[in-house]
Amino acid sequence: MSYTPNVPAHIAALKAYVPGLPIDDLARRLDMPASRIAKLASNENPLGASPMAIGALAEAAIDVSLYPDNDCTLLVDALSQALDLPKDWIVVGAGSESILGMAASAWLSQGRSAVYSAYSFQAFVNAVQRVGAEPVVVAAPEYIVDLDALLSAVTPATSVIYIANPGNPTGTRLPPAAIAAFLARVPSRVAVVLDEAYREYLPPEEAGDSLQWVRDYPNLIVTRTFSKAYGLAGLRVGYGIAQPAVCALLHRLRAPFSVTHPAQAAAVAALQDRGFLAESLQMNAQGRSQLYQGFDRLGLKYLPSSANFVLAHVGDGGALARRLETHGLIVRPVAGYGLPAWLRISIGTRENNARLLAALEQELQ
Ligand SMILES: Cc1ncc(COP(=O)(O)O)c(C=O)c1O
Repeated sequence: MSYTPNVPAHIAALKAYVPGLPIDDLARRLDMPASRIAKLASNENPLGASPMAIGALAEAAIDVSLYPDNDCTLLVDALSQALDLPKDWIVVGAGSESILGMAASAWLSQGRSAVYSAYSFQAFVNAVQRVGAEPVVVAAPEYIVDLDALLSAVTPATSVIYIANPGNPTGTRLPPAAIAAFLARVPSRVAVVLDEAYREYLPPEEAGDSLQWVRDYPNLIVTRTFSKAYGLAGLRVGYGIAQPAVCALLHRLRAPFSVTHPAQAAAVAALQDRGFLAESLQMNAQGRSQLYQGFDRLGLKYLPSSANFVLAHVGDGGALARRLETHGLIVRPVAGYGLPAWLRISIGTRENNARLLAALEQELQ
């Protein structure tokens, strides 16, 4: 007998998040060893994680029978030092995605709305829908967030504006001066969530002083993650930066014990390993040039990327992704973002980038 859960309409309408195809699934389907599959679909770090983080993780394993430190004390201390910010300006979460959701729970409800750009990260959409608020999606000419249009879309019902810089899946970035001018114009009753999951990949002069913006604007929440440049996606650890009143609010919305002890320990160690971070960024810059050169050779249009992936225009993204799977390559179709003609390709190792380009050459001729 079928059962329809008696839930509010906005919950029944929720769509499940569609992640990149897991390596093991494709390995089973192709009857190929998992080690032969290259996943260029989830913007993970192709270098893996810092050996220091892995060491800390192994040491932390002994404590898995204990609940973790709910206050993430050591990690908050380490972040406070690294960012030169007081501890009560930092809130740690199980991935930065959880902070995006906490901001939605704090500011939004039925009757309120959130404004964000077209081609925005799927988690914005989900966070807003989960709490029954109205999403207001603003056009993004040239696939770049239009800050003036975001401001024009603000109504008395608007409580949050979400922006990712750089954006996912576009990889495009905003000039720091434009963000600063935008923040100065947002009414203070509207919270701004500035998602900096890919911040580390920005050229330093383009990254913007988002900590100063947090000091200047009590309605701003900046989110960052250990999932990308720090290579800890599997541990689910990220954080928000905001003024103390906002952090205190977000703390109350956090699920208890949501950041595991191994995740906290590995994140502390990862923060210390500047060498691994530098190597990751260098590998990303080299891989990006490699992909650009290959795409140019193949006559593929792509968006210049400020992140660890490139959005390429391929005709039918879904069909090409399925053909690439037969080569043991997983990439991300982005039709769900309103980009059916594009593929999002995470920048991998030199070898995997070359494999991808060779497969593209074969499939596109
Ligand atoms: C723009 C953006 N923000 C946030 C996240 C979430 O990262 P986390 O792993 O910290 O939840 C991602 C992950 O892909 C992302 O692309």
